[in-house]
Formats: sequence, C-alpha cells, structure tokens
Amino acid sequence: MEEHYQVRTLSIDIGGSGIKVMILDSQGNPLGERLRLETPQPATPEAVINTIAKLIAEAGEFERVSVGFPGVVRRGVVETAANLNPSWIGFNLAAELSKILRKPVRVINDADMQGLGAITGKGVELVITLGTGFGSALFLDGKLVPNLEMGHHRFRKNQTYEEQLGRDALNRVGSKKWNRRIEKAIASLNKLFNYDYLYIGGGEATKVKIQLPANTKIIPNISGLIGGIALWRD
Ligand code: BGC
Repeated sequence: MEEHYQVRTLSIDIGGSGIKVMILDSQGNPLGERLRLETPQPATPEAVINTIAKLIAEAGEFERVSVGFPGVVRRGVVETAANLNPSWIGFNLAAELSKILRKPVRVINDADMQGLGAITGKGVELVITLGTGFGSALFLDGKLVPNLEMGHHRFRKNQTYEEQLGRDALNRVGSKKWNRRIEKAIASLNKLFNYDYLYIGGGEATKVKIQLPANTKIIPNISGLIGGIALWRD
C-alpha cells in the first residue's frame, strides 16, 4: 500500500475551565479523540503547560502545534489573560512551548481559532464564544481581523459583554434572563457589524434557547480545535 506523508497538527484549546487537545491530519480532520483536563488553579503558565504535557502524553504523535489562547496574543506573546492569571502577561507562549515540545508552535486567540474552524470564508462573518469569558472574532472573506476584544467592551447597564454574558453571569441570573440578554446582544452586534453571518460557539452555546435569526447559527465547541489547521495555511 502506498504511504502518504502526513503532517499531524496537535491542536490545543486553553480555556478558563478546561484545556482540550486533539490531533488533526493534514486536511484538518480529527485523528483521535478530544482529550480534556480541568484548567489548573491558579492557572499560571507553568501549571497550564504541565496540564498540556499530561494531555500530550495521551494524545499520540504530531509534528506541529496550534494553540488557541483566551486573551490577546501578538507574535506568540500573551498580552492579556483576563480569565487565567496575571503572570501570563508578557509570556512568550509560542517560544516556550516550542522549546519544551521541540516542535513548531503557533498561538492565536481562542475565539479567532474557533472562528477559523467554522466560517465559510465569504463576506463579513462574526463569531462570538460563550464560555468562562466572552470571545469574539471578525472575518472578511475569510481574512481575520485579529484580537477583536468585544468581551471587555461596554454592553448594557454599565457592564461589559463578558460581565453580562460570561459563565458567572449565567450562573447568577439563570438561563431565562441570560437568554434575554443574548437576544439583546445579537441585536446590538447586528446593528454594529451588519455581518452576513453570526456564529455562536463556546462551551455554553448549547444553553442558547432563543429563536435565532436566519443568518445566525450555533457552532459545536469542537470547532475551537478544528480551527487549529488554519494556522498553518501559508
Ligand atoms: C478574553 C478573550 C477571549 C475570551 C474567551 C476574554 O476574557 O479577553 O481574548 O477570547 O475571554 O476566552
């Protein structure tokens, strides 16, 4: 049988509550199960990297690594980490992880990575993620506008999107009220961006129960990992 050389990508999704990994084949299809461990507390760089090492030990072989990080990342260096730990600020995650794993590593914002795993590549596409935090990503014809940080932007009642719609808010106000807020957020974002499509992802997206507009769709959380293949599309 003819053998094809496969470049396998280890995709890592670092979240405020869980860290997930999965190996993708050269086309971006999953090669194994998604593995998940709780995010360690405090979520310092060292603790998170130790958790990643535990997951990798179970994951299998790979040649390169893509990471979705829950904060602003520029050229591999973390600039914000609202839901992890302040010790991340200034940490060169791409370089440090690459040194440890001895593989090339690319790092991008988690919502940006989730968007890359979900969009069609046509027109203006906005992605929001509902999890511990509130993530956002904007694309024009498939090209990313990096590090759109809607989560920390003012939404209503003197609070940000993240304060009104993050997991803490959901637990505090309950699903009914949270869903009403989602409805208001969609209306507000639609007026601002006039997007062609809106995608809603993240661990809490399944709790969205409102009737969605025709151009709005819930995407599976696995797209946060699937999007990792797009980081190597040069
Ligand atoms: C961060 C974003 C991130 C989002 C979801 C926010 O608090 O600022 O960068 O995408 O949480 O994890």
